[in-house]
Amino acid sequence: MKLKDRVAIVTGASSGIGRGIALEFAKEGAKVVVADLQEKPKRGKYYDRDLATPTVTAIEELGAEGLFVQTDVAREDEVRNLVDRTVARFGKLEIVVNNAGINVPGTSETMPVADWDRVLSVNLRALFLTSKFAIPHLRAAHYGRMIHIASVHFRGGSSGPPYAASKAAVVNLARDTALEVGRDGITVNVICPGFIETPIQDYMTPAEIEAARQRTVMPRFGLPRDIGRAAVFLASDDAEWITGASLVVDGGYIAAI
Ligand SMILES: NC(=O)c1ccc[n+]([C@@H]2O[C@H](COP(=O)([O-])OP(=O)(O)OC[C@H]3O[C@@H](n4cnc5c(N)ncnc54)[C@H](O)[C@@H]3O)[C@@H](O)[C@H]2O)c1
Repeated sequence: MKLKDRVAIVTGASSGIGRGIALEFAKEGAKVVVADLQEKPKRGKYYDRDLATPTVTAIEELGAEGLFVQTDVAREDEVRNLVDRTVARFGKLEIVVNNAGINVPGTSETMPVADWDRVLSVNLRALFLTSKFAIPHLRAAHYGRMIHIASVHFRGGSSGPPYAASKAAVVNLARDTALEVGRDGITVNVICPGFIETPIQDYMTPAEIEAARQRTVMPRFGLPRDIGRAAVFLASDDAEWITGASLVVDGGYIAAI
């Protein structure tokens, strides 16, 4: 087991990619704190239409320990509470996966300013908050891994003004934090997923989903566990000398010019 008795927080882990990461961590022996607005998994228009089992129940079915902490990652007091509850329950914190993210489609002309602010709060500002409250515990544990979930949209537009901007910013935020904490052996890395079968795709039309599927070189769409396995690697001893890096996991979506 690559993460035996490690203690991890995964944000947005009730659904989709976060849930996939939480379950792969649990299979590798980690104790996983599921931080999400809601405990029930989201049901999508296209994927996870009948999913009902909360992630902590699924973690326990794998023989591991989990804890749900209701959290809005955009709120400072709630992120502080998340870290405090984690350490109170498991005695330490070693791994933080900043996965919670939202996408509000629109254009610069039509999008309300409040939507821009909300996307930036969840997709970017929240990573500063988890860093602020978690880093002291990572230093104390003498083991630290921070993993941010960005997107292939770090490299180009097409998902609305705040989404692509926030995902590009995440990549550079990770580099900056990596400089801050590297001397203590803490790594900070980014995973940039391509299209993954989760409810976040509800905003897309079937034709848009088919176009993304066609552009994905590998013969299937991505699944949450594809990102989960990459996160296990970055969270494990195997990746101890990798920091400030971004790993594209997209089935070849951006391989073509
Ligand atoms: N699915 C994809 O194709 C894809 C591709 C690239 C990147 N991503 C990124 O992966 C991450 C996860 O996406 P997903 O597809 O699993 O999305 P999803 O919508 O399926 O699940 C997101 C989860 O995050 C939770 N969440 C949303 N806002 C939150 C908040 N403020 N505080 C706490 N939890 C919150 C939701 O309740 C939900 O459980 C996001 O950062 C997204 O941008 C997804």
